[in-house]
Amino acid sequence: MSLQDILAVAVPGSPEETLARQINFDRLPSHVAIIMDGNGRWASRRHLPRVEGHRAGIDSVRDVVESSARLGIQVLTLYAFSLENWKRPASEVSTLMSLLKRYLRLELKTLLTNNIRFRVVGRKDELAPDVRRELTIGEERTSGCTGMLFNIALNYGGRAEIVDAARRAIAAGLKPEELDEPRFGELLYTGGQPDPDLLIRTSGEMRVSNFLLWQIAYAEIWVTDTLWPDFRCRHLLEAILAYQKRDRRYGGLKEPAIAGR
Ligand code: IPE
Ligand code: IPE
Ligand code: MG
Repeated sequence: MSLQDILAVAVPGSPEETLARQINFDRLPSHVAIIMDGNGRWASRRHLPRVEGHRAGIDSVRDVVESSARLGIQVLTLYAFSLENWKRPASEVSTLMSLLKRYLRLELKTLLTNNIRFRVVGRKDELAPDVRRELTIGEERTSGCTGMLFNIALNYGGRAEIVDAARRAIAAGLKPEELDEPRFGELLYTGGQPDPDLLIRTSGEMRVSNFLLWQIAYAEIWVTDTLWPDFRCRHLLEAILAYQKRDRRYGGLKEPAIAGR
């Protein structure tokens, strides 16, 4: 997982190749989280129904998952469906769920080939049984993979996640003095994972829309006007390059030394 892996699939002389050569592979973000937005706008610009935007967005998911694994990103989290997205018309919701099932069925082999572990973050138990079944198959079959961890945020809400963590703390009988930030972080859906270093949002909106509220405390945010169905490996490389130019301070005066840098 390195420059060579990206160059192996990049067209010589392409923007991907030029961008990939500028990346410092010793300073990759460990965790990249993406708010995949703009599918509806992509479709309406083409006078197509919104669901066509979601359909087209699947190609972007495939490209970004595979590119991230090739780059050597440890954790990739894609925001696919929020708790608030249930407010959308039932037909749009059911198309989104069908697309998700289809993606998983078709991509399972690729995930395994690329040693990618798949996990759901969100209230999985509230999803329809057929969707849950597909997700569980994906999680179980890839559970032995040791490469990139691919989280899909589904039926996910950042506030709900914090409430669920608080409920777990109470259910576990934790005393107030036993609860601190690291312990609480372990009770979140992403327990044990590094926090996102880089948060990407497509389609230009400057908001976090209830995504990973706890975990993005010190994430670097990169927003692009590119709509999700147009987002490809080269945009991911652009985001990583921008990230590598940032000065992360964590409230201090200069970036703390990070092992391996
Ligand atoms: C993102 O695209 C996909 C989901 C939220 C599921 P949208 O459907 O939000 O597209 P816009 O924002 O309306 O363009
Ligand atoms: C955020 O996009 C949710 C996902 C990408 C799944 P939305 O389109 O739902 O967010 P808002 O409504 O513009 O804040
Ligand atoms: Mg949107």
